[in-house]
Amino acid sequence: MFIKRLEIKNFRNYSDIQIDFNSDKILFIGKNAQGKTNLLEAVYYLSSLDSLRAKNDSELIKWNENICNIKAEIKKFDVDVDLDVTINPPNRKKLKVNGLNKNKSSEFISNLTTVCFTTNDLLLLRGTPEDRRKWLDLAICQIFPAYIERLNKYNKIRTQKNNYLKSLKGNLNADSSLLDIWNEQLAITGSNITFIRINFLYELQKIAQIKHKQISETEELSIIYNSSIIGDVSSLKKFEYNNEYILEQFKIKLEEKKQEEIIRGQSVIGCHRDDISYFINGSEAKKYASQGQQRTIVLSLKLAELAFIKDKLNINAILLLDDVLAELDDIRQNYLLNAIDEGTQTIITSVDTLNFKDEYLKNVEIFEIKDNSICKL
Ligand SMILES: Nc1ncnc2c1ncn2[C@@H]1O[C@H](COP(=O)(O)OP(=O)(O)OP(=O)(O)O)[C@@H](O)[C@H]1O
Ligand SMILES: [Mg+2]
Repeated sequence: MFIKRLEIKNFRNYSDIQIDFNSDKILFIGKNAQGKTNLLEAVYYLSSLDSLRAKNDSELIKWNENICNIKAEIKKFDVDVDLDVTINPPNRKKLKVNGLNKNKSSEFISNLTTVCFTTNDLLLLRGTPEDRRKWLDLAICQIFPAYIERLNKYNKIRTQKNNYLKSLKGNLNADSSLLDIWNEQLAITGSNITFIRINFLYELQKIAQIKHKQISETEELSIIYNSSIIGDVSSLKKFEYNNEYILEQFKIKLEEKKQEEIIRGQSVIGCHRDDISYFINGSEAKKYASQGQQRTIVLSLKLAELAFIKDKLNINAILLLDDVLAELDDIRQNYLLNAIDEGTQTIITSVDTLNFKDEYLKNVEIFEIKDNSICKL
């Protein structure tokens, strides 16, 4: 997979930018606050319809403008694909593939597959459960684009349920029959999301463990999914949990929490409350791992995402590396750069070229970002 051209209008600090890419290795250099992360964010948005930083889409629009647009020309399996998204809140975003309107997000995001690795990811283990769920959900969407529809549906039902709970205002005597209907729908979608997450982590863990051992030499990585419905699920035991079992447990747990939810006026249980924990040789990484060990985990996860995509979809995802090289020591830097397949288009941002060996810089297309514009060096 290859991005040939990117066009952005009124996105973040950019008014109107067009870039043609002619290489597998692309480097954007620029001082702080020039728009390096913004540029990768635009590419990432085309592959996920989500941003790693913005809480809502309107943050992506250039200040004092109402509408923004990102376009790209992609080459996938030797076929050219044109992607075009217009963000214009509060209207629905407009999605076009090869000039044709698409209503489903999955039909859009299935065209471009990326793995994004930012300095923020390095804090994944110390971050919030929401950060970890977001990483997991976005990673799943790259492999199973239809998953985005399930997530959207779950969030929609949850919002409606929360509005209803607020309307009950803690009144336990009120007629709460509508709550059963929301709970039934939430259980069906939520159990499916839980099931997919557990299965994904199981597959990802198998690859990440190998990468992790190659970097750390002696350490064993394991991942546990902390479900608010079925408890802690070691990825190795995923076969004990099928979709029906999770659905049944979802319904039981929602019923148990019904009174508490009415009193608190919000939904207190479901896959929007879940978390993921990581262990090195059986000790929880969040509590005990050193900075370097935590970085090795994240690096292994990101490389596992790339390998998993290659294995499942038979494509090389585009790798977006936002400033991460400077944060990694020599060993991890080399491991990362050497682990990237020949055919993987890699877009890297960096303040300067100091972190790159001459050998790497030989075949790189370098752009400089300065004063809200981009020029090829
Ligand atoms: N919606 C927006 N409209 C206009 N400008 C914005 C918008 N959102 C962010 N910016 C500006 O974009 C600038 C560049 O941000 P960005 O995070 O891409 O910089 P960067 O080059 O990655 O910097 P660093 O090296 O510090 O990571 C920021 O100074 C920010 O004020
Ligand atoms: Mg940045």
